[in-house]
Amino acid sequence: MNIREYLEQKRQEIDRFLETVVPDAKTPPTTLHESMRYSLLAGGKRIRPILAIAAAEAVGTPSAAVLPIASSLELIHTYSLIHDDLPAMDNDDYRRGKLTNHKVFGEAMAILAGDALLTLAFDLCSRPDLLDGLTPSHQVCLIHELAVGSGNLGMVGGQVFDIQAENKDIDLATLQTIHKHKTGMLIRAAVRMGAIVASATPRQLDHLTAYAEDIGLAFQIADDVLNVTGTREELGKDANTDAQRGKKTYPTFYGVDGARALADQCVARAIGHLESFDAKADPLREIARYIVARKS
Ligand code: IPE
Ligand code: IPE
Ligand code: MG
Ligand code: MG
Repeated sequence: MNIREYLEQKRQEIDRFLETVVPDAKTPPTTLHESMRYSLLAGGKRIRPILAIAAAEAVGTPSAAVLPIASSLELIHTYSLIHDDLPAMDNDDYRRGKLTNHKVFGEAMAILAGDALLTLAFDLCSRPDLLDGLTPSHQVCLIHELAVGSGNLGMVGGQVFDIQAENKDIDLATLQTIHKHKTGMLIRAAVRMGAIVASATPRQLDHLTAYAEDIGLAFQIADDVLNVTGTREELGKDANTDAQRGKKTYPTFYGVDGARALADQCVARAIGHLESFDAKADPLREIARYIVARKS
């Protein structure tokens, strides 16, 4: 299979759907909708929704409900980026090749756009018109997965660990905990939600969860490496910011090559967890490789 074509085709499908979920900028409150659309439709790799779709495909033939469920993850992710970039957090000026949300709309609107995207994600996971074919118990289960991946024990918890570690001499175990939460938990939710939409067996869900945990760590190690090796043009966001902000990352501990090698090991382990799956899991295998090979 050609992973570039696969990613591009899925990205377009998700972008077309996302375009329809946020009201246009003429709908009041107009500034809020403009601000939400500004960050959501600014590009982005859409890797979390793509993972949800690929996980569903690995298990069976996904129903149409997979698209809204997968897209809910992108709403959460975009909200997390808007808040992550705020002056009170990472204080970044560029994201997805554009000025950050608060630079254009101000801090208050950026906070509210993030809040609204977060809420809209749960709306998307509970809309009967979009989720035809999913049983109520599946729907509740999906909403639960999204909440766990996003909240205090998931992404938000990881963001807390991350800011508390700034300018501190943290050890490797602490760094791993930060990464597993701030980035890993939403990726884990993405894979599990896709699998649940496709009615995975408990055994399949366990294997896919183990896969997700390994690629989640690999994804953030790759982000750390790109922060050192990339440029703003490539990344769409400023490079070298971790060092400037006193953040210890995988390259701090292992150097760039050492960090890359560790990310490769995570990917190999992740692919190992897919042993019992047939060729329908090839996109998941290829996405794991792409995560560490990517340049942005
Ligand atoms: C960036 O995520 C933030 C992290 C959690 C590492 P992505 O690298 O998926 O960013 P986009 O969505 O493509 O902009
Ligand atoms: C982002 O982590 C994690 C989120 C939950 C948004 P970083 O702060 O390391 O990611 P970038 O480098 O700003 O994209
Ligand atoms: Mg951050
Ligand atoms: Mg950041």
